[in-house]
Amino acid sequence: MEILNYDIVILGSGLAGMRAALQASMASNGKLRIAMLSKLHAMRSHSVSAEGGISGVLYPGENGDSEDLHGYDTAKGADFLCDQDAVEVLIKHAPEEIKLFDHLGVPWNRGADGRIVLRAFGGMSVPRTAFAADKTGFFMLSALYDNLLQFSNIEIFHEYMATGIVCDKDRFIALTALNMATGETTAFTAPSCIIATGGFARIYGFTTTAYSSTGDGIALAYEAGLPLKDMEFVQFHPTALIPSGILITEAARGEGGYLRNANGDRFMERYAKSKMELAPRDIISRAIVTEVEEGRGISDKKYGDAGYVHLDLTHLGEAKLDERLPMIKEIAIKMIGIDPAKEPLPVRPASHFTMGGIHTNIDGMVMLDAKKPMSNLWAAGECGCVSVHGANRLGSNSLSQCIIWGKITGNAAAKHAIDAGSKPADVDAKLLDDREASVHRLLDSDGTEDPYAIRREMWRTMDAYVGPYRTADALTKARNAIADLRRRFTDVRIGDHSMVYNTNLRDAIEIGHMLELAYVTTACALNREETRGAHARREFTKRDDEKWLRHTIAQASKTGAVRIGYADVKITKWKPEERKY
Ligand code: FUM
Repeated sequence: MEILNYDIVILGSGLAGMRAALQASMASNGKLRIAMLSKLHAMRSHSVSAEGGISGVLYPGENGDSEDLHGYDTAKGADFLCDQDAVEVLIKHAPEEIKLFDHLGVPWNRGADGRIVLRAFGGMSVPRTAFAADKTGFFMLSALYDNLLQFSNIEIFHEYMATGIVCDKDRFIALTALNMATGETTAFTAPSCIIATGGFARIYGFTTTAYSSTGDGIALAYEAGLPLKDMEFVQFHPTALIPSGILITEAARGEGGYLRNANGDRFMERYAKSKMELAPRDIISRAIVTEVEEGRGISDKKYGDAGYVHLDLTHLGEAKLDERLPMIKEIAIKMIGIDPAKEPLPVRPASHFTMGGIHTNIDGMVMLDAKKPMSNLWAAGECGCVSVHGANRLGSNSLSQCIIWGKITGNAAAKHAIDAGSKPADVDAKLLDDREASVHRLLDSDGTEDPYAIRREMWRTMDAYVGPYRTADALTKARNAIADLRRRFTDVRIGDHSMVYNTNLRDAIEIGHMLELAYVTTACALNREETRGAHARREFTKRDDEKWLRHTIAQASKTGAVRIGYADVKITKWKPEERKY
């Protein structure tokens, strides 16, 4: 197997990964050799799809805004499960990062006075979301990518699918990855590694996320025995376009859009009177499900069986749509032939973001267990649960999180690599060979199970039983069904046995990852007997701070069962209170 030695290896090339690469380069004056791996072309990383914007208090004092208010909104949005020391880092660094991206070339929307304009987002007390129309992720990722290309010390390995995070006791040793162009496995060793592979909302069938959002880094960390945190908390975005699930940005409501039921009523009045359509996502998603369950949803056979509601933008006017939401208009016209300036859009909740992920400390260091950090492995962005979002993320806080912890981990990884010097790591070849062998077992298997049938069944199960509302009965059905799919997956057969661009093989690896994450999510959801943020149990309708104001920690066990433990939640400034909007 080819073994390549670097100073830093970064797995993932979205906003967090690229921001980490930029920071590590700058911190070492372009000296450190950095490898950044992407399973796609780096510019197709899912951050590119982010639409509505990025949060940060750019103008303290205006509209009564302050970092403290941003922190309070975030903690309340999180239903107080976030670690508030981490939230304090987020609110402090978000404004300077937005300004950095201005210098990197992001064309933020600006007012007549030339200042960056801010728009309203759900759960935020005042407008504090900077944006570039409704293509914010595209512009931010393009700006980063363009800038990274100037650094000759950064090598981007496009189309390298990760297959293993190899650790020796408490130390990261190497990544293994399948080179899609050749089918060969390459090992990347480095004294420092950052995982930045995004979330796993693709474990659901109806989702706003790309086919690539399969949580590979999280699954590989779990497989390596590392702990995951708060995996039961999955965010459903209220306004996914029917039937595809394509995201209709929350900014559509931030710009003044209404949600209406079959009677034409703005039903949010009954669920969040003061915030209406700008309540947090968990509350709006449940409201939509309730409207549909109680017979006030809309249905149309051409959009399938699930009921939905209307997102009404008709009163915003053509000019505003063209300036602020041009992509939404284009998507609606192209995908379902509806011009949102003239007719309302059919929408319903879809999985969108995963609050849980690899258990890290406030510096993004991956934890070995509930308490002890590893010395040379970090996780940043959606794949790392530093816990700024707790039980429910506020819209536009994720881009801030990605780039802030990209920067933090990039700095730390650079410092560690500089201190470690440039001697190549001692690698136990057997550990690497094991990873390659497991890919070949999959490739050469003459099993009988179709991986795509397993994926369809996983999607159906998660959509049906692990949604915005959960019950013990439904979660038990889901856990048993996913356990069965995991068993079936051991007998899977891949249609294509070739080595070159074998996308069937890549899909199968992703499906294996998703099954593990679906299983952990379901087990943790069954375990948490309360309603908090995005996790709403019908039998336990209240938040229970006495018993459940704690993080869930999930680790793999030899039997395949999920080992569940707990970690404390850090409360600094914002005391838990009843969450009303
Ligand atoms: O609705 C949106 O534009 C999504 C933003 C986010 O998830 O932060």
